[in-house]
Amino acid sequence: MTDTAFVKRVKRVKRRVSARVHDFYAVCPPGLRQLCYRELTGLDAAIKDICVVPGGVAFSCKLTDACLASLWLRSPSRILMRLTRFKADHFSVLEKKLAAVDWELFLPAGTDPAIQVTTHTSRLYHSDAVAQRARSVIRAALGGKQVQPQLLQDEKYPQTLMIRAENNLFELSVDMSGPPLFKRGIKKQVAAAPLRENLAFAILDAAGFTARDVLVDPMCGAGTFAIEGAMIQAGIPPGFFRRYAFETWPGFSPAAFAHLRGLAAQKFCNAGSVFASDIDPGAVAALTTNLSGHDFLASVKASRQNFFEMLPNSFTQQKGVVVLNPPYGRRLGNSRDTTAFYREIARKLAADFKGWKVGLVFPKKQFGDLNHLNLRPMPFFHGGLELAAGIGTA
Ligand SMILES: C[S@@+](CC[C@H](N)C(=O)[O-])C[C@H]1O[C@@H](n2cnc3c(N)ncnc32)[C@H](O)[C@@H]1O
Repeated sequence: MTDTAFVKRVKRVKRRVSARVHDFYAVCPPGLRQLCYRELTGLDAAIKDICVVPGGVAFSCKLTDACLASLWLRSPSRILMRLTRFKADHFSVLEKKLAAVDWELFLPAGTDPAIQVTTHTSRLYHSDAVAQRARSVIRAALGGKQVQPQLLQDEKYPQTLMIRAENNLFELSVDMSGPPLFKRGIKKQVAAAPLRENLAFAILDAAGFTARDVLVDPMCGAGTFAIEGAMIQAGIPPGFFRRYAFETWPGFSPAAFAHLRGLAAQKFCNAGSVFASDIDPGAVAALTTNLSGHDFLASVKASRQNFFEMLPNSFTQQKGVVVLNPPYGRRLGNSRDTTAFYREIARKLAADFKGWKVGLVFPKKQFGDLNHLNLRPMPFFHGGLELAAGIGTA
């Protein structure tokens, strides 16, 4: 590209991408849309038209503010940027409309995105054929698999294009996130059956956890609740330690994003208190590895301990929040074992955590075993299982 052509393109990217308000869509797990709505409305950014829609929350803003949302939102799984909408009921029309998109303004040269297509009640119902048309148009526009930006060469930061067709109306979106947003970029190790970080956040939030609360995670595994809680206490954005697909986009401003990260970093504080423990030494070792190298995680005290022998008065004078993600399903053996285990947990919480706020994950059908704790169930799906978090006060 000549210097003049480059300067012209930079100007077009600024005019057509950076300076404009676009439509975005935060994809949320079932049950987390209202929380995402609340998070979005609480951001210090020029975001408008925030609206709960099927599968997520829609909003409009400039790209920089959507980058800020990606940095700060804890509940969504990913954020998509809408590129265009058009009607097409024939492949020739589809190809023409695809070719009319200024791909080079949105994606870097050499990008060969993964293409996900869903079609409903549309004449062009063959998703592979739609994807194939889109692939050849984009390869022609962006030069196919040439030298890709460094971040895209790394498989962990893939670029995906989503194409959705309903009643012949096509909607094209690019994924901003790359790896899902619940990947916070901290965990080097996972233990058995980890919760996703956005679900852990939703449970902490429902249990009433705030940055000022002491947090106890007595079946911590590799520490999902503990790390999420410590980040909230320290005021650290959930995306601070990760990278995003949008960092490769021509419209992305590294300086503006560095500024947003810098503003967040100025406010980090290390005053929190998290007690994380597990009966399994392997889990404690995994948590210790995850904590290492992060100063702000010094607020997390990791230890090996049997929950049923734990006395919170021995390590804190303050009543706070206790969250548990106990083993369930096959790992506990038959249903009688599971019932007995959950009853024992309920008894322990009632006896030694009286007055503590509780978030307790359990298989939905086990709810009856927690009766006397008076928890309200917050249903969710995880790993294909119907679970719930019991929320309330012990
Ligand atoms: C489902 S895993 C927790 C996963 C964790 N929340 C995460 O996201 O990484 C359940 C954990 O409970 C621990 N556990 C089971 N019985 C326990 C007990 N009596 N005391 C403490 N931990 C226990 C297991 O060792 C296991 O690590």
